[in-house]
Amino acid sequence: MTLNMAVPVRDVIAEIKEYQPGKLIKDAIKLSSNENPLGASPEAVRAIRNALASGELNLSIYPWERNEEALRAAIARYTAVNSENVVIGAGIDGVLDTLVKIFLGRGDEAIIPVPTFSLYESLVKIADATPRYIPRNAGANYAISRDELVAASNSKTRMIFLSSPNNPTGNCIAVDDVRALAESVPRAMVVLDEAYAEFAGSSLVRIMSEYENVLVLRTFSKAFGLAGLRVGYAVLPEWIVGMYRKVSLPFTVNDVALVAALAALQDTEHLRRSVELVRSGRQYLRAELQGRFTVYPSEANFVLVDVAPRTSSAVCGDLEERGITVRDCRSFKGAGNSLIRISVGTQEQNEKLVAALKAEERTVRNSGSSSSEP
Ligand SMILES: Cc1ncc(COP(=O)(O)O)c(C=O)c1O
Repeated sequence: MTLNMAVPVRDVIAEIKEYQPGKLIKDAIKLSSNENPLGASPEAVRAIRNALASGELNLSIYPWERNEEALRAAIARYTAVNSENVVIGAGIDGVLDTLVKIFLGRGDEAIIPVPTFSLYESLVKIADATPRYIPRNAGANYAISRDELVAASNSKTRMIFLSSPNNPTGNCIAVDDVRALAESVPRAMVVLDEAYAEFAGSSLVRIMSEYENVLVLRTFSKAFGLAGLRVGYAVLPEWIVGMYRKVSLPFTVNDVALVAALAALQDTEHLRRSVELVRSGRQYLRAELQGRFTVYPSEANFVLVDVAPRTSSAVCGDLEERGITVRDCRSFKGAGNSLIRISVGTQEQNEKLVAALKAEERTVRNSGSSSSEP
């Protein structure tokens, strides 16, 4: 990176780490980004093709309000809320960006239980607010301690970020914990990020209507297989909606994505197959890997594995040489250096992963070293 000394930039920019996406290597099996191994909803792909062929999708005009309204209404039906409580954005990432702009500024604080999705930290810092990191309890499957979170809050706390199921640990938050936080810290927004809720089979979206300071984030990137299109949404109290519309960039979700997401919601068969594949796959991975490594229980479409005494970078490097990419969790604050996150793939991909990990482990055992790193 060249530094342009002529134009000063904000100090905080130096502190922000670039987002680390899962590695994409040509011809490798990619189990590093928690994507849908079945691909996009076929109905979504068909809807794009049909809308383009019929001229209903006209790429030369700005996205149509009617498409957005139709999608918000369909999301409201899917989540059993009113469409007045739904806003959409360019993935959960885009929705989060807008929400942080609404709630956080200089002097404000945000609570982030770690390890968790790294974008929360970046957005809080970009807003000139202060992140308060609270370690999750590794000995209790990375559960949060609501007492610690409440104790870390103060009159400046404006947001509390809770990913459930949490990335990268896979565990969900209990409804009582969310209630306790919403009630104990009433001047902070409790942000419940449910990017992986479909795989957990449960959602706390219904409690949003009981509180003015709870909102829920969901996405089309995971269970619906539309990560490349960038569509996410928030289910939130109505008092936030007007501000959300003011602060959000105009036309943040494009027409192709709107049409596809609407069709994907109706494609219940693809959703069912995707969820089933993940549930059986994560059970398989856990059964095969437990005993050799510590495998944490997961309600998401990935499993977290502790490869100690080896390091995550050594194992990820070896897997990569065997044609498989998984996520080295060193980039997650508070995750240490022996955790890897494996996205659930097709059964064939899962079997290849297990075989590769076993082969890799044998090689290490035979060479008599516990770590391939100094
Ligand atoms: C917890 C969590 N939230 C949000 C996202 C991003 O979702 P989207 O693709 O909708 O921006 C991810 C992506 O991996 C995630 O793990």
